[in-house]
Amino acid sequence: MFENLKAQPADKILALMAQFREDPRSAKVDLGVGVYKNAEGVTPVMRAVKAAEQKIWETQESKSYVGLAGDPAYSDVMINLILGDTVARDKVAAAATPGGTGAVRQAFELIQSANPDARVFVSDPTWPNHISILNYLNIETVTYRYFDRETRGVDFDGMIADLKEAKPGDVVLLHGCCHNPTGANLNLTQWQAVVDVLLEKALIPMIDIAYQGFGDGLEEDAQGVRLVTSSVPETLIAASCSKNFGIYRERTGLLMAVAQDTNAQALNQQTLAFLNRQNYSFPPDHGARIVSTILNDDALRSDWAAELEDVRLGMLGLRQQLADELQRLTGSDRFGFIAQHRGMFSLLGTTPELVEKMRVDNGIYMVGDSRMNIAGLNAQTVPILAQAIVDAGV
Ligand code: LMR
Repeated sequence: MFENLKAQPADKILALMAQFREDPRSAKVDLGVGVYKNAEGVTPVMRAVKAAEQKIWETQESKSYVGLAGDPAYSDVMINLILGDTVARDKVAAAATPGGTGAVRQAFELIQSANPDARVFVSDPTWPNHISILNYLNIETVTYRYFDRETRGVDFDGMIADLKEAKPGDVVLLHGCCHNPTGANLNLTQWQAVVDVLLEKALIPMIDIAYQGFGDGLEEDAQGVRLVTSSVPETLIAASCSKNFGIYRERTGLLMAVAQDTNAQALNQQTLAFLNRQNYSFPPDHGARIVSTILNDDALRSDWAAELEDVRLGMLGLRQQLADELQRLTGSDRFGFIAQHRGMFSLLGTTPELVEKMRVDNGIYMVGDSRMNIAGLNAQTVPILAQAIVDAGV
């Protein structure tokens, strides 16, 4: 049997991680996988996370199973964090999942069982694993224009024109904020125009929100999701706590299905629990408990929000420093987009050959599509990167 297995293509982000680890050069710079690093190159455990873990350790009396959809207290705080009070709670079905990827996978499976003919429209480009999972599930994928390679902003007219080609029931996968890999995002007026197309064409939005708090702020980054969810009849939302709580390895995600009425909500809730049971039974609890402990405690919540805000401002500072340095070296504003982008990533918009050249010549690791993890930089490595970009002739 085993001889029938086909070798699968390596995930390019994870392959790059391994390649970086094996590089013996000490001056190498890791701008690959989307993991936050502080100025010392460390991915720290956030203060509030440590405190919540201590609290859990002191008070938790059992490690027995929780429900199939996870702890309802976790769903409640996450629904509130993402949707605020824009949608009535009894219209939202939610289930904890192993990370944001688990939520994405379950969402695609839900789509497939609800409407086997649905196609999923994804931005060009999108997170590669979106496409990989869609292919794995044999779901037809259609790309819509998103990134304008001239301006490095959003090709909004292209996006809208392509979405208008969708047929009723098709799903549109949107990034809630901090678009991965480009860093180019919709403004609220553009979100409204997307909503208009969703309504006009009877399309189902699926929103992947993995970086809330990394862009313009916790509330600001949720504006697009809230607008969509309060405007259209049905929305799927896949959320991750990996980045904004820094609990990557705890695998803490949530899938939400927002419905028109409470009957649909009950069926959705049952479906989400069923999907969990089929795939892994009970979702992991530790990360979810950390999140609910923090968000239900005023002091921990404000400390977490303050530390997250420092992380966000640090990344914005690095963006500005890199854009300024490139302006100084080139005498032009053509890299100004780096300061305009938001979130962890910016797509430099250059060729795989030049990305490879920077890796070989300068030990700079970015994903082959030229995605840079801005949080992988620090004040010392920004000038090194800027010089490498200029030397490579980007
Ligand atoms: C990324 O895009 O780098 C992160 O979402 C990590 C991953 O799993 O790919």
